[in-house]
Amino acid sequence: MTANELRQKYLEFFRAQGHQVMESASLIPENDPTVLFTTAGMHPLVPYLMGENHPAGKRLVSVQKCIRTGDIDEVGDLTHLTFFEMLGNWSLGDYFKHEAINWSYEFLTDKKYLGLDKNKLAISVFAGDNDAPFDQESYDEWIKLGIAPERIAKLGKDDNWWGPAGQTGPCGPDTEMFYWTGEDEAPKTFTKDKRWVEIWNDVFMAYNKNADGSYTELAQKNVDTGMGLERTLCVVNNISDLYQADLFLPLIKELEKLSGKKYADDPKAFRIIADHIKAAVFIMGDSKGVAPSNTDQGYVVRRLIRRAIRYGRMIGIKTDFTSLLGKIVIDNYQGQYAELKKNENFVDDNFIKEENKFSQTLEQGLKKFNQLKEISGQTAFDLYQTYGFPIEMTTELAKEKNLAVDIEAFNQAANQHQELSRTAAAGKFKGGLADHTESVTKLHTATHLLLAALRKVLGDHVYQKGSNITADRLRLDFSHPDKLTPEQIKQIEALVNDAIKQALPVTWQEMSLEEAKTIGAMGVFESKYDERVKVYTVGDAAKPFSREICGGPHVSNTSELGSFKIIKEEASSAGVRRLKATINN
Ligand code: ALA
Repeated sequence: MTANELRQKYLEFFRAQGHQVMESASLIPENDPTVLFTTAGMHPLVPYLMGENHPAGKRLVSVQKCIRTGDIDEVGDLTHLTFFEMLGNWSLGDYFKHEAINWSYEFLTDKKYLGLDKNKLAISVFAGDNDAPFDQESYDEWIKLGIAPERIAKLGKDDNWWGPAGQTGPCGPDTEMFYWTGEDEAPKTFTKDKRWVEIWNDVFMAYNKNADGSYTELAQKNVDTGMGLERTLCVVNNISDLYQADLFLPLIKELEKLSGKKYADDPKAFRIIADHIKAAVFIMGDSKGVAPSNTDQGYVVRRLIRRAIRYGRMIGIKTDFTSLLGKIVIDNYQGQYAELKKNENFVDDNFIKEENKFSQTLEQGLKKFNQLKEISGQTAFDLYQTYGFPIEMTTELAKEKNLAVDIEAFNQAANQHQELSRTAAAGKFKGGLADHTESVTKLHTATHLLLAALRKVLGDHVYQKGSNITADRLRLDFSHPDKLTPEQIKQIEALVNDAIKQALPVTWQEMSLEEAKTIGAMGVFESKYDERVKVYTVGDAAKPFSREICGGPHVSNTSELGSFKIIKEEASSAGVRRLKATINN
């Protein structure tokens, strides 16, 4: 069975049971500061699991792109992946345990679908604790389906409770399905033997985890299921190594060509390179594509690419290779994920740039590293500053040499440096404002109006990528793949000028980052230090024209702005456009 067949069968099966098919959401969560990436299919559904109405109904199904960064350092074994696809079906307060379990069983065992041998299935259910009782209902459903009691394990929260995805939110007991992948007959009893491979998880999201760690029952009882596409494909096709299946094989073959080595010579290195390049392609090629950088998602991409390059050199690849492998990933997946092809140039440019940058320092950095007898926090920081070694790479290299790295001291060195640059940036901003306070303040408010107008005209993929204001003009960089048409520029100008004519009030409130997120404020949610933020609202609080997290200052009414005009539109970098605009009183 190919990946495509599996995706189609899954969607078809649940469509026939009244589910609406959803497109995969972006890998970058919508205004969620608690996680960098979408880690499960339920992630984009959190508000609906909590009771909000979903426009597509109460039964949903999707194939969702997921990234799990907790596993990056374990990649290289047979089963861990940074990027994977999750097949999932949901009930938003509609069907519950009986239907979910019976459909799971039918899809797994019916010859029309996966046709797996029911004698090789094992199950786990929640054993119960102080927060929630034993899941008798799920247990009984499995018994009715003919699963032997010895094959049903009753386990605690560590094994059979899922969620929340962040600190708080929907969660509940789950029942997991395992398949015997050993050569010999499946044992009578289910144990933690690795040959029992987990293939599906049905979560019964009937609880909310609160900030104080307690659990409250939700009024709405939901089902959230997740089946890893790559792993299931291997089980169905009787393949024990994920990297030998169709979603990885073209990459492995190309790596053999490039290196002159065989996969079997160094499977760990081949797997790491293939996994990391694929994950980097999906992050950069996302609708909210992120380029390598030193913060947040950008740092993860940087780390993935750099680690892939180091392993590439280790297996003897002397030339640049990341962009070539990236193209193979795009070719392989473009049928399912059109955004990859659309963002191909952005992905390609960034691979080339990043590999260029890192290739120049990697060799020298390794030379320097090999002379070290110990690695202080300061040394680790120097390796990062001078040679571009992500701290995780230094730690990995140190492990290979049986050396330890003082991570705490590294963090201290890094923080000190950050303080310096933050102070410098603050100083600069103050200096700029002192001269032309009034005009800069107006242009600052106009920037908020412009960003809101851009999103209304171009779409929700538009995010602020940079801003610079002088006494004469504003400059805004934002994510958008194409040159703006004269039509679009006119529409955007008209929207901003309309907001000015309406004399909308500009107000602000201080609140927690969490609250800002809840009321839909745009902005940077990465701040880890400063819990309280200022949120500026332009227009009616119930239906604002613009709402952003921002330090200010702003005018108090848009009528102070005068007429708004875009004076220049150009490319800033790949996938990012730049506008300059003025206001005249
Ligand atoms: N959200 C559940 C999981 O990721 C289905 O396993």
